[in-house]
Amino acid sequence: MAIPRFVHLTDVGPRDGLQNEKQPVPAAVKIELVQRLQAAGLKDIEVTSFVSPKWVPQMADNAEVMRGIPRKGDVRYAALVPNMQGLEAALAARADTIVVFGAASEAFSQKNINCSIAQSIERFRPVVAAALAAGVAVRGAISCAVGCPYEGGVAPARVGLVAGLMREIGVQQVSVADTIGVGTPRAVQAAMEAVLTHFHIDAVIGHFHDTYGQALANTLAALEMGVWHFDTSVAGLGGCPYAKGATGNVATEDVVYMLHGMGIETGIDLEALVDAGAYISAFLNRPTLSRAATALLAQRQRTT
Ligand code: HMG
Ligand code: MG
Repeated sequence: MAIPRFVHLTDVGPRDGLQNEKQPVPAAVKIELVQRLQAAGLKDIEVTSFVSPKWVPQMADNAEVMRGIPRKGDVRYAALVPNMQGLEAALAARADTIVVFGAASEAFSQKNINCSIAQSIERFRPVVAAALAAGVAVRGAISCAVGCPYEGGVAPARVGLVAGLMREIGVQQVSVADTIGVGTPRAVQAAMEAVLTHFHIDAVIGHFHDTYGQALANTLAALEMGVWHFDTSVAGLGGCPYAKGATGNVATEDVVYMLHGMGIETGIDLEALVDAGAYISAFLNRPTLSRAATALLAQRQRTT
């Protein structure tokens, strides 16, 4: 399989990144972050979640954030949706893409969305059908595709099973998520292989958290299989509130630096992306987790 010449990145920082943030992040800051990401050339941004505000208080301003974005015609704005109530809100907020999120582990499914894997699929079925009927694209996320914080290792066959169910209910693209960042390249490739029995390579997304420092290696491993869609998070923000100890997704800046270095196009302006990461890191009052951004910011200081 040839390495792709173009890679499509979805920045999930405003959603996956900020959902776990303890300090309040005003809607205006989230809107500004989205604005800066699109100015840097991101064409796909996961903005928020239409989930219960009791479960994830940080996403309670979902409609306000969606409403406040100065939209660009060539950018797609995505939101997580767990059920019909979430879908109705996402449609009212004019989401271009919704993401239904299930898991390859029963325990995580219960902790995260309060139902079994089978129940989640039945809950998603009408959500997916209604979204597609409304002309909204549908992604599915499979959490714990390599390991689970409650059950430990997760067999690729289980990931394949959930991918097959998602395919059957009409999910168009599926993201293979290493929620707790325990995966290493061969394990990630095995999970990807299982998903590829149900979805075309063009419909498979890598979503790798960087808890154990493996996310960039895992991105390369997936890239070498021909995967060309990845979820990444500006400044490496994030984690899941129901996966304690898990850190953010691989930093968008690090992935862009690697891809451009390999001669792979992304359509993203790395310097502007570094600025977006610096903006949110300054607001959160902590250094960026991106190694490439840290180096580029230090280089800027040396040359000014
Ligand atoms: P539940 O308690 O079983 O839901 O939660 P329910 O249907 O019984 O409703 C209970 C209450 O929630 C009701 O309100 C509903 O109105 C309300 P009350 O009558 O008590 O006042 N409610 C909602 N409110 C707003 N929007 C909604 C909604 N649905 C119900 N859509 C539920 C089930 C799924 C709602 C809950 O478990 C939930 O919201 N979970 C979300 C958890 C979450 O967002 N986790 C993080 C995102 S997933 C992730 O990060 C992983 C990912 O990045 C991939 C990876 O890395 O693995 C995607
Ligand atoms: Mg995630």
